[in-house]
Amino acid sequence: MTTSPLEHRLQAELADLEANGLTRRRRILESPCGRIATVDGKNVVNFASNDYLGLAANTEIARAMADGAVQWGAGSGASPLVSGHLAPHEVLENEIAAFTGFPRALTFSTGYLANLAIIPTLAGRGAAVFADKLNHASLIDAMQLAKAQGAETQRYPHCDMAALEKLLAASTAGSKLIVSDAVFSMDGDLAPLALLFALAERYDAWLVIDDAHGFGVLGAQGKGSLAHFNLPASPRILLMGTLGKAAGVAGAFVAGSTTAIEFLLQKGRSYIFTTAAPPAVACALSKSLQLIEHGDALRANLQARIGQLRDGLYNLPWKLLPSATAIQPLIIGQNDPAVALAKALWQRGLWVPAIRPPTVPQGTARLRISVSAAHTAADIEQLIDTLKELA
Ligand SMILES: Cc1ncc(COP(=O)(O)O)c(C=O)c1O
Repeated sequence: MTTSPLEHRLQAELADLEANGLTRRRRILESPCGRIATVDGKNVVNFASNDYLGLAANTEIARAMADGAVQWGAGSGASPLVSGHLAPHEVLENEIAAFTGFPRALTFSTGYLANLAIIPTLAGRGAAVFADKLNHASLIDAMQLAKAQGAETQRYPHCDMAALEKLLAASTAGSKLIVSDAVFSMDGDLAPLALLFALAERYDAWLVIDDAHGFGVLGAQGKGSLAHFNLPASPRILLMGTLGKAAGVAGAFVAGSTTAIEFLLQKGRSYIFTTAAPPAVACALSKSLQLIEHGDALRANLQARIGQLRDGLYNLPWKLLPSATAIQPLIIGQNDPAVALAKALWQRGLWVPAIRPPTVPQGTARLRISVSAAHTAADIEQLIDTLKELA
C-alpha cells in the first residue's frame, strides 16, 4: 500500500520533532499525584505537578468524590442545558460565587473550555481584545476564535501597561476586553492587576483574569489573585479559576456579574456543546473549597518552602526568575542543556520538568520548579544541594 500524503506529512513532522529534540514523552505514574511519584518502580520527589496545596490525593476529597459517585452515579448523562446539570453542580456554583464574592459563577469541565467560552462569546464583531503576550495557550486559542468571529485582537508586550494603554487609547471598537493570566504559568510572575483594572475603568473595558495558578494559593483564604490585590468583584471583571491545580480535582469556573454569567450560559459554545462533568467531581470540589478556605497552614507551608528554595538557589550559573509564587523557573537557555539537567536531576531522584519551545520563547528553555505545600524542608534542601552539585 502506498503512503497517503497526510500519513507522509505526519511522519515527516514527527521525525523533525525527534531530530530537534522536541519529542515529548509521557511518564506513567504508578502512584497517586503527590509529593513522591513512583515511575518504573523508582521513587522521585515530584516538582512537576500544579498540586500546589497537596490536595490532589487528599483522602477527604477522594472520599467526597467516592460518596458522590455512590449517591449521584458516575456520569452526568448530558450537556448542562439538556439534562446534565445536577444538584451538586448547582451547589458548587453557588459556593464558588459566595467564595469569590461575585454574584454568580458557572462551572466547566476544564479551564481550556472555560477560556474558549469566555473570549469569543463576549468579543465578536465590533469588539477588540487586548491580551498579554505571555498568556496561556488556551487564551491564545480563544483569541483566535474571537478573531474568526470578527473581533479585532491585539497582544501587548508582557505586563507592559504603557503599551496596553496606547492600544486602548487608539481603539475605536464598540466594546473592549483586556485578557491576562494573573500568575503567568511558565514565569510565575504576577500581572499588575490593579493597573489592569484601572485601565479597564479608564477605557471602559472589561477585564478577564485567568487565575489558574492563583486560586487557592493567593489572597485571604486562598480566594485568589483579585483578593491578593484587594480588587473588588466589579461587574467589569470576569474571574476564571481552574480546579485541577491548587484545588486538586478537575474543572474550572467563571465568576462574574449576573448578566455576564447568564450570557455565557446561553451562548458559550464550549459550555453548551459538551457533557457536564460527573456530579461526583462537583462533590469533591465542594469539599476542596472548604479545605482551601481553611487552608492557611497549607499556604504558610507553601510560602516557607518557596522562600527556602529561593534563598538556596542564589549564585548558580542559571537565572532564577523573580517569582514569588509556587512556579519557580530556572532559565537554562538552550533546549539540550535544559533536558540534560532535568535528566540528571531525575537520575538523582528529583522530578523537575524541562520546558522548551514552543511552550516558552526560543532560547529560554527552563526548569519549571513547581513547589507544593506537600514538600518538606528536606525535599527542598535536596533539590538545592543537587542543583549546586550539578552546576
Ligand atoms: C493559565 C492557565 N489557564 C488555563 C489552563 C487550562 O486549565 P485546564 O488544565 O483546567 O484545562 C491552564 C493549565 O492547564 C493554565 O495554566
